[in-house]
Amino acid sequence: MSDSKRVIIFDTTLRDGEQALQASLSPRQKLQIALSLEQLGVDVIEAGFPISSPGDMEACALIGKNLKEATVCGLSRCVEKDIDACNEAFKGLDHFRIHTFIATSDIHVQEKLRKGFEDVLDMAVASVKHARRYTDDVEFSCEDAGRTPIDHLCRIVEAAINAGATTVNIPDTVGYTFPLEWGGIIKTLFDRVPNIDKAVISVHCHNDLGMATANSLTGVQNGARQIECAVNGLGERAGNCSLEEVAMAIKTRAQYLDGIYTRIRAENIARASQIVAGITNEPVPPHKPIVGSNAFAHSSGIHQDGVLKNRSTYEIITPESVGFKENNLHMTARSGRHMIKACLEKLGYHEGTYDLNDVYSRFLKLADRKGQVFDYDLEALLFFSHEKEEDTQFELTALNVIAGSKSVIPTASVKIKIGKRVRTESGTGNGPIDAVYNCIARLTGIRATLTSFSINAKGSGMNAQGQVDVDVQYNGRQYHGKGLSTDVIEAAALALINAYNSIYRAQIIEQERGVQEPMKGV
Ligand code: KIV
Ligand code: ZN
Repeated sequence: MSDSKRVIIFDTTLRDGEQALQASLSPRQKLQIALSLEQLGVDVIEAGFPISSPGDMEACALIGKNLKEATVCGLSRCVEKDIDACNEAFKGLDHFRIHTFIATSDIHVQEKLRKGFEDVLDMAVASVKHARRYTDDVEFSCEDAGRTPIDHLCRIVEAAINAGATTVNIPDTVGYTFPLEWGGIIKTLFDRVPNIDKAVISVHCHNDLGMATANSLTGVQNGARQIECAVNGLGERAGNCSLEEVAMAIKTRAQYLDGIYTRIRAENIARASQIVAGITNEPVPPHKPIVGSNAFAHSSGIHQDGVLKNRSTYEIITPESVGFKENNLHMTARSGRHMIKACLEKLGYHEGTYDLNDVYSRFLKLADRKGQVFDYDLEALLFFSHEKEEDTQFELTALNVIAGSKSVIPTASVKIKIGKRVRTESGTGNGPIDAVYNCIARLTGIRATLTSFSINAKGSGMNAQGQVDVDVQYNGRQYHGKGLSTDVIEAAALALINAYNSIYRAQIIEQERGVQEPMKGV
């Protein structure tokens, strides 16, 4: 590697993170996250697991086509058809990475794969060679390396490098190791594997015992030069190493780490975190380091006194340095199309990744209702613009409710465009939203079970809009829907219709494929 101090940031929010979500993301949603990761300065974006579903394949291809700086990567088991699927997703691109993995610990090899270690070794070598036919950027991972006998680990790392792996990833898949122990494993690999300098050694640490960030850093202190992580620490079970934590630890303690650095643009961290939390519907806990709403709040009198005298008394990182700032882009109904395009550009959304006409016409409607529109509103319009681009079956065209206290019976009238026809339904419920939901169920003919419902303010104070998130269960699968409006009842209606459109699309895909349930995750 040319620069021995640089640590490559490999983001797996869209693969390890996404596979842990209740409902999968659409290709457009994944693209939005990918673009924010690219803006953040991530080096490699693991966009998905192309063999796992047509949606993942489409998302990988879409992301690959739209990235300008970052390398796109797809996951595969050590199976030829998985590797072929990665190539299928990325063919035509100048550069892409194939990431192939197989488990190496005794428990995984014997109990899960029901094979011997020698078979696993052969599969790893054959898969790396197969992947090298398609690209010269091949990563190999030894799943559950943290619990793999060290002799086996050394042998398979050496064999994978000899077969052509350019990155070898060492995962602590179950988040089992302690920092010193983990650092020792990485050091042993550097001491014992003769060709180790021919590949970048990577670490991928899960957070089951809360050690993921510490373990990733000891990995780096012992020679690893790639960290696999996810925004907000998303990932299987307790999650992956959190990108923002590891990036800020490296930046803040660069001297202690002997000049190690990443290419992460810290000032874009807050934005990426909010985009990921919004699209995945996984809110950031308030006390989460770096990106939690409490991460920079000083509560006790003694702390407040200290901060007023000198911020550094209790603040090792400033909120501004990770991009928390006042929302300063104010737009009104008088703002023209150019202004909206320029604002979106500033926020990191390049033309071609969204439909300007669609966003602008919805911006005007919002500006008429709200007066001032802020940058987070504009971003929200993008999050909510997917329905137009994918085949939308249901569209809310009008809504009216009567609600009140005591003797008023909550009543709703809802008008929905279903395909090309517009239909209206009226009904009652135990509250105005229940009345609206009863109408929507009758109009669409979809009887899904509502499993969660939440209303949050998007934005702050009087300028906020209502964001409703719903999860519904239908035919054994979970679907997520989102709605945003200055009117929370309309937001609730939009959220349910959004989820029903996903159900409709899933049914179409299943009919086309003649398959009931796509494979999900690894
Ligand atoms: O945790 C893990 O081992 C993984 C591999 C697929 C890299 O996610
Ligand atoms: Zn993982």
